[in-house]
Parts: sequence; C-alpha cells; structure tokens
Amino acid sequence: MSAATGKKAVLELDGKKIELPIYSGTLGPDVIDVKDVLASGHFTFDPGFMATASCESKITFIDGDKGVLLHRGYPIAQLATQASYLETCYLLLSGELPTAEQKTDFENKVRNHTMVHDQVSRFFNGFRRDAHPMAVMCGVVGALSAFYHNGFDVENVDHREITAVRLVAKIPTLAAWTYKYTIGQPFVYPRNDLSYAENFLYMMFATPADRDYKVNPILAKAMDRIFTLHADHEQNASTSTVRLAGSTGANPYACIAAGIAALWGPAHGGANEAVLKMLDEIGSVENVAPFMEKVKTKEVKLMGFGHRVYKNFDPRAKVMKETCDEVLSALGINDPQLALAMELERIALSDPYFIERKLYPNVDFYSGIILKAIGIPTEMFTVIFALARTVGWISHWLEMHSGAYKIGRPRQLYTGETQRDIKR
Ligand code: CMC
Repeated sequence: MSAATGKKAVLELDGKKIELPIYSGTLGPDVIDVKDVLASGHFTFDPGFMATASCESKITFIDGDKGVLLHRGYPIAQLATQASYLETCYLLLSGELPTAEQKTDFENKVRNHTMVHDQVSRFFNGFRRDAHPMAVMCGVVGALSAFYHNGFDVENVDHREITAVRLVAKIPTLAAWTYKYTIGQPFVYPRNDLSYAENFLYMMFATPADRDYKVNPILAKAMDRIFTLHADHEQNASTSTVRLAGSTGANPYACIAAGIAALWGPAHGGANEAVLKMLDEIGSVENVAPFMEKVKTKEVKLMGFGHRVYKNFDPRAKVMKETCDEVLSALGINDPQLALAMELERIALSDPYFIERKLYPNVDFYSGIILKAIGIPTEMFTVIFALARTVGWISHWLEMHSGAYKIGRPRQLYTGETQRDIKR
C-alpha cells in the first residue's frame, strides 16, 4: 500500500481551499490524490496522461531521467543477462525470482499448456493470407476467450493463475502459427523437450520436410533475451488498455487481444517494424544527413527514437545493442543496416534538435536488426513484442484483480454543441 505522507497539496477554487492528500511510493515521485476535486464540480484535465498515475502497482519501476528500469526491484540488464525469460515471467507474475524447484515446476506448467485446442487452428482460415500478422493475432488471441469463458470466474484465484500460465504457454504457438499461415506452410506443433525460445523458433522455422530441424543455440539465446527485454514496461498504452478492459470484468483473453491492438501502433510496439522500413528507405549512409533534415523539419519521425518516459538512454536499448553486436559477430553477419543505424544514432546524439528534446534510442531501435538476423520477417516484429509482453499484461491484470479496483471511467472536457432541438 502507498503511504500517506501527511503532506497536503492545497488547491484554491472559487475562493475555497481543497486539501489534497499526498502519497509516497517506495520509489518515484509522490502523487497527489485528486479525487476530492470532484466535489467542487471540477474534473482534472490531463490528455495523454502526461502527469497522471492511473493505479498503484508493485511490478515495474521506471526512472526515465536516469534510464532505470526495474522489475520487482531487479534491474533489466541483470535480468536480461542472468535470468531466463521464463524466470522473468515467474518474477513478474509472483513477485520473486523462482527457486530451482519453483523454476522447474513453472517450466513444466508452461510446457503442459503449449498446445491450443485444435479448433483454434481453423480460425486462421478466416483471414486473407496477406493479412498483417498483428491483425491475425488480435483475432486468434481474442478467440481464446471463446474456449475459456463458461465456468471462468474472475474472482477465483486459481482461475486467474491458470489463465496467466495458459497465456504465457500458448502465445508462442499462436504467434508461430500466424507466421506459418501468412507464408502458406503447415502449422508446426510445439515440442515440449525444447526451451521456451527454442520451441518458438522451432515452430516458426521447422517444416514437415525438414524433420531434423535444429534450432541454432545462439539464436535461441538471443530470442530469449529479446523476450526478456520486452516483458513489461509499467503503465504503457497497451498495459493501460489491458487494465482498462479488465476493470470491467471482461474475459482476460479478450483483454489481452485489446492489448495487442493497442501495441500495434507505430508510436508503440509497431515502431520495431517501422525502424526497419525506415532503414530500408534511407538505403545507405550518404542518405542519412538529408533524412535527418526531414526529421528536423518534422516531415518524418526518427523511428526507434524518443520515449514518453525515458529522457535518457532506454536501458533496454543498451542491452539490445550489445546483443545485436554479439549475435551478428557470432553468426558472421555484416549487416549494412547496422552501420546505417549506428550513423543515425551518432548524428542524432550530437544534434541539438535531439539533445534539446532529450531523444535517445529506445528498445525498438536495434531489436529489428537482431530479429532480422534470427530470420524473423519485418511484419512479424510487433508480434514478437506482443508475445513477450503478454506476461506483463497478464501480471498487471492479476495485480488489479487481486486487490480492490474500480471500473476505469475517465471524464472529459466537452466542447461540442450545447443542447438544441431537432427542427424539421
Ligand atoms: N523523431 C523526431 N522527433 C521526435 C521523435 C522522433 N522519434 N519523438 C519525439 N520527437 C519530438 C516531437 O516532435 C516533439 O517536438 P516539439 O517539442 O518540437 O513539438 C518532442 O520531440 C516531444 O515529443 P512528443 O511527441 O511530445 O513526445 P511523446 O512523449 O508524446 O511521444 C513517442 C513519445 C515514443 C510516441 C515519440 O517519441 C515517437 O513517436 N517516437 C517514435 C516511435 C517509437 O520509436 N516508438 C517506440 C517507443 S519505445 C517502445 C514502446 O514502449 O512501445
């Protein structure tokens, strides 16, 4: 629980003073509780939630000025290099890193749920085969709600917990099948002798014609790290969407589909796809300077740069760049797009336009280059983000449902017509 500081903010309205309590968390700015403003007949106004804490949470902390990201207190760089993705999932869901026994138990639970009901496979056929994979993901993940609705009780802790395990387990299967569907290959069923990341790559790239397909361990390690780097990011647009949808008591699979929809946009998870498209368009290092001029005249945005919260290096981008270097050198790949990205970064970090606005590379700036090296096509990049972020979304949904919460219902500043009569 947050602690009342005893301090109060005083708001003077129409000559009356309203005292607003101030609470402290364990880290980060104190918050002013503005509920009592309502009694004065006013709403607070903060489009884009620039200064609004929408909930209390114990899962993830970000200090955007210092470039800090902690999950349950652990720095992201330590988790990415010293813990597996499934350990990070356990941490996000339960609050602690697992013991060896808890780790084995959790991995087994996830393994037991990697299959989807075979009827789910038929949903794919309803989509055009050139549909964007994120469109397919919104549909098939939302469709899971039809399989787990009757008998589901949101008040039941066991029901909530098994939902979280099912989602973490099934999302790689649905993501890989989405890819297979769009390229016209048969679905590959999960293999439970493989690790989480290996199994995902196996379902993506194995075919019935290549029964001995072996996942490259370098790629599996990189994939696992990419998953960890995307696992959660406190109250971002998609997580807030999942919380808002969840606050109505809606089916959790439908809530996750809502999160996937919110993630798709280029200002959020869709940026990783947009970065590679941008690098393709720029083409070569000579074109970087003219491109940057267009950015500064606001004709285009430098995708993979800037963040609502980070006004310093995104700590995920640092680990992502190191992983990118490791993967490309281990695979002996000399990707000209990496040189292009580095030149963009070099110019941006020394240009007053970016310095003044505190624009730094974010997690998406380098992830696309690694994903490309792994063999993931550009259109699937945001699906990878969605796969990895599912645990974050469901952790926030669990947290919300394990305490007291109210339906999320913002108000508005109405600027439309005043009441009028129909005249005929
Ligand atoms: N390229 C050029 N200018 C930018 C960029 C950019 N990528 N990002 C922000 N700016 C400028 C913006 O034009 C504005 O300038 P001015 O003050 O002159 O009007 C100033 O910087 C502040 O930007 P803002 O749009 O008010 O900032 P925001 O907090 O509302 O937006 C953002 C944050 C992430 C949507 C934005 O930086 C952006 O669109 N970045 C590119 C897309 C991107 O990489 N998104 C991935 C975010 S990280 C992954 C995730 O968590 O989803």
